[in-house]
Amino acid sequence: MSSVKGLSLLLKAIDMNIGFIGAGNLALYMAQGFVRSGAIRASQIIASSPETKKSTVKELKDLGVRFTPDNKVNVEKSKLLIVAVKPKMVPFVLDELKNYIRDDHMILSFAAGVNLASIEKKLPAKSKVLRGMTNTCCAVKEAATVYAAGQNANEEDCKLMEEIFGRVGTVEEVEEAHIDAVTGLSGSGPAYAFEAIEALSDGAVKMGLPRGLAMRLGAQSLIGAGRMLLDTGKHPGELKDAICSPEGATIYALHHLEKGGFRSLLIDAVEASCIRTRDLQIQGSEEETDAESIKKSIREGLHLKKLLESNGILKSD
Ligand SMILES: NC(=O)c1ccc[n+]([C@@H]2O[C@H](COP(=O)([O-])OP(=O)(O)OC[C@H]3O[C@@H](n4cnc5c(N)ncnc54)[C@H](OP(=O)(O)O)[C@@H]3O)[C@@H](O)[C@H]2O)c1
Repeated sequence: MSSVKGLSLLLKAIDMNIGFIGAGNLALYMAQGFVRSGAIRASQIIASSPETKKSTVKELKDLGVRFTPDNKVNVEKSKLLIVAVKPKMVPFVLDELKNYIRDDHMILSFAAGVNLASIEKKLPAKSKVLRGMTNTCCAVKEAATVYAAGQNANEEDCKLMEEIFGRVGTVEEVEEAHIDAVTGLSGSGPAYAFEAIEALSDGAVKMGLPRGLAMRLGAQSLIGAGRMLLDTGKHPGELKDAICSPEGATIYALHHLEKGGFRSLLIDAVEASCIRTRDLQIQGSEEETDAESIKKSIREGLHLKKLLESNGILKSD
């Protein structure tokens, strides 16, 4: 069951559509990875979000993904539901959808900081829930994905999770308690890498290289270093030592990084992202929907507007 054909057969056998609740960056990059890896047909993916004019919605449509502004339609048509809305929107979306969740749905949330217990609490008792963390590198099949299974998710659900996300990078099951730190490391990680590549290429441009060449070489250096570490299993310190010949250029450069607190800054960055993720947990686990957050996500003509009006959360025009 490890080939692309194997997965397609698996999905076909269970007649599975994948529904993204939220059609922003994460949904787009994941859908691109799923489709480009050949594992899932674009027509098997449905995305829902209130905003229809957003650039990510256009890109999803261009990819061949089906789109609906109505989350409920998405839930009705999909078996695997991927929650890809901002953490503060999660309680609202779960409240909206809980009456439409069936026992055969598998709900996979990637909302940073939102824990399994707070999701399960909002849904019917038998709901199968998984919580994951990944990154935008899904789009190029180099994501680092982890997940933790909720109380009703079984081995088959975990296998499906690994089959799907194994097509767009690495995937492993972790203890849920580790997911916030994973967010600080590999969820935010591509942003650290992009900053590093830009700064490295600034240095090279300063020393005379054309920008394009500098960025390609900087990017390839990061890809190569990561690949070397994963393939050899060696400690990064050992691999670094092999580049630092006595009195050579690299050890001079590393001394500058050390003086500037490079390693300490990276440690601080991971810690800051993890702590921020824990703050998001509070927003994403609200018992009651935060009306201000909801209003922000409402655009003209949305079906949600009517829903909120009928619930008395918004006043009719
Ligand atoms: N981006 C990443 O690298 C990354 C990595 C791992 C995990 N995540 C997690 O993934 C989630 C989404 O992140 P993102 O970067 O994709 O954010 P995003 O680009 O802002 O996308 C969020 C999407 O949700 C839509 N939305 C808002 N309210 C909704 C509702 N009630 N029903 C359905 N859709 C609704 C938004 O539409 P509007 O814009 O119209 O409001 C938007 O399309 C977050 O929880 C984040 O923590 C992101």
